[in-house]
Amino acid sequence: MVENANAFTTFASRNMSLKEQIDIQRLPRHVAIIMDGNGRWAKQQGKMRIFGHQNGVLAVRDTVEGAAELGIEVLTVYAFSTENWNRPKLEIDALMHLLVQTITKETPKLMENNIRLATIGNTDSLPPKVAANLKKCIDKTANNTRMTLVLALSYSSRWEITTAMQKIAEKVKSGEIDPKNINEELISNQLNTAAWPDPELLIRTSGELRISNYLLWQIAYAELYFTEKLWPDFRREDFYKAIIDFQQRERRFGKTSEQLKSEHA
Ligand code: FPP
Repeated sequence: MVENANAFTTFASRNMSLKEQIDIQRLPRHVAIIMDGNGRWAKQQGKMRIFGHQNGVLAVRDTVEGAAELGIEVLTVYAFSTENWNRPKLEIDALMHLLVQTITKETPKLMENNIRLATIGNTDSLPPKVAANLKKCIDKTANNTRMTLVLALSYSSRWEITTAMQKIAEKVKSGEIDPKNINEELISNQLNTAAWPDPELLIRTSGELRISNYLLWQIAYAELYFTEKLWPDFRREDFYKAIIDFQQRERRFGKTSEQLKSEHA
């Protein structure tokens, strides 16, 4: 009986598109992505690293559209880490230029798709031109409601947590908070991501099995999905595959499998 059911599932999924295999009722509300492999992709083509980043933008566009169409509420992409400031100046300048170019070009698409842009990270450290362009796009898309696209820029989780701790310490010092009342909710509310639910799924491309200082507090219960695909080759179908994989997992949050089954019976 079980065998027949599995045979049916396999038969059905073979004839269904990846998108059709997704259960829209059980989507992760927030998906985070570490877009990795741009440099290696460019090297494979015998090109400069920036060529990889330029093609990475096409992957961002397709994934963002695919995620919004599905009904994902928040998509957070790691566009530039605090550690990326250590890259050669030429690459940093090219990435910043690409960012300005992309934001300017993509703002009408974000409007068309009803997508709001937001950022996390130490955006004060960005060049003024990048900051000004970001602000323009953030303001323009502020009332869009279908999905929020969050760019992690000059972001690192340890920086974010350190900053949050400083803010909490100040409040304790001023008497606004009693240390006894410091709890998980209070800490979450001091993070850059306070407005959104925690990511339930984290995707990393390029076969690297690391978290790289990304959303460390927020991914406490996230499912991790790693793919060998290099970021410039990533498309919405790859995103669908990650969602399907996510939906096949049992999320126990510390409970037993039996407890979960009786809760859903
Ligand atoms: C990691 O690949 C990628 C980055 C550090 C930058 C990501 C930027 C983009 C995809 C383009 C701009 C994005 C937006 C949202 C407009 P890597 O350079 O570390 O690759 P490697 O590990 O192969 O060297």
